[in-house]
Amino acid sequence: MKTIIEPFRIKSVEPIPFNTRAQRELILAKAHFNPFLVHSNDVMIDLLTDSGTSAMSSNQWAGIMSGDESYAGSPSFYHFEEAVINITSMPFVIPTHQGRAAEKILFTLVGGQGKYILSNTLFDTTRANIEYSGATGIDLLCKEGLHPTVPAPFKGNIDLDKLQNHIDQLGAGNIPLVILTITNNSGGGQPVSMHNIRETSKICKSHGIPLFIDACRFAENSYFIKMREPGYENTPVEVIAKEIFTYAQGCTMSAKKDAFANIGGFLALHDAELAKAARNLLIVTEGFPTYGGLAGRDLEAIAIGLREVMDEHYLKYRIRSMDYLTNKLKSHHVPVMQPAGGHAVYLDAKSFAAHLPVEQYPGQALSCELYVAGGIRCCEIGSLMFGKYDENHQLIPAQLELVRLAIPRRVYTQSHIDYVAEVVCEVFDQRQSLRGMKILEEPAVLRHFTAKLDYI
Ligand code: F0G
Repeated sequence: MKTIIEPFRIKSVEPIPFNTRAQRELILAKAHFNPFLVHSNDVMIDLLTDSGTSAMSSNQWAGIMSGDESYAGSPSFYHFEEAVINITSMPFVIPTHQGRAAEKILFTLVGGQGKYILSNTLFDTTRANIEYSGATGIDLLCKEGLHPTVPAPFKGNIDLDKLQNHIDQLGAGNIPLVILTITNNSGGGQPVSMHNIRETSKICKSHGIPLFIDACRFAENSYFIKMREPGYENTPVEVIAKEIFTYAQGCTMSAKKDAFANIGGFLALHDAELAKAARNLLIVTEGFPTYGGLAGRDLEAIAIGLREVMDEHYLKYRIRSMDYLTNKLKSHHVPVMQPAGGHAVYLDAKSFAAHLPVEQYPGQALSCELYVAGGIRCCEIGSLMFGKYDENHQLIPAQLELVRLAIPRRVYTQSHIDYVAEVVCEVFDQRQSLRGMKILEEPAVLRHFTAKLDYI
């Protein structure tokens, strides 16, 4: 097999800032041992997120220049609307400034006290918006998804038996919707199979519950279906993506992921009444229905990105990049999520730093060390992000302690990734020296973004 190459040439570059270990130690201490608080010009390889960090194409930049900034009825909105309807077939398309704004509008309308939202795994902002409305979010991940290092093709699936049981116990009338996150970001960027989506939709339909898709990474998920699900090997990704949405009544999307945009999102719906209510809220919080929270140029960039992302040369390279890093780490016995996810490589911090109890936030300790050792910024997805406290202020830990190396789209080359692998392996060889951490200060919600920590 020939080497899979980056399916693009580079027209414009940005310098990478270099600094020393001693400088990074000081920088991290000043940032209260929270990589979110480090300035990005102190970061050499930024793997904090794949969100809004994509390199846009020359076509997208051309779209930026032709974006029409009219307050109402901009042609850029209609390009955007057409691109969303082309994939989702949902007639009501509501632009928002990013994914969480779509979530906020949706859950303000359908959430509230006594309501339950069921999911394979809710992303943190989705959960926060559900809880902020007074509703309860419940994750029903399949059991394969709970074992990071045990491979399975669709570890993002929802557990269908648990879904049925929860509906029976909670009552369909208390469940305004079920939402499938594709790919399952918090569970390792793992895909959901078409079979699972179809069966979820059948269960929902039989109880009159709408199924929604959190569609941030729909194209990566569609490519995994093509690669792994019998019957889809010869189906174009675009056709797979369209089939996914036929099972749903609505979707939210952050265009900062699979639309290669630096900002943007949307809510798309079949239900005219819900759409009307959503647009009323949109006007209060985001803007007029033909721009939402966005500029016309952003709408153009998203419209173009939504088409580009379904290019199978791109998706092949994208998914292969995650495999490449995963395999390098695996050959060094680093505990890494298997198989590789679609947008990130996830380290299993619980076994990486096996000497640290979850109360000492092993994932945070590891992400701090990756910054100090190599200037790599990444993100804990574990008990700092998802931990809660019981009534005695004891930590209720997250299900998994992961560290996410999220790979921005079309940004880093293979030698950058080789460097990342070297640094992770070096830290792994010295893992006994990783030190436990404690939280000094934290906000009430989404604490990982701004919490201040220190070593114990
Ligand atoms: N849903 C999923 C699955 C996400 O991954 C994100 C964002 C959102 C919703 C919210 O979208 O950021 O546009 O408001 N994930 C980013 C990340 C932040 O780093 O994974 P947003």
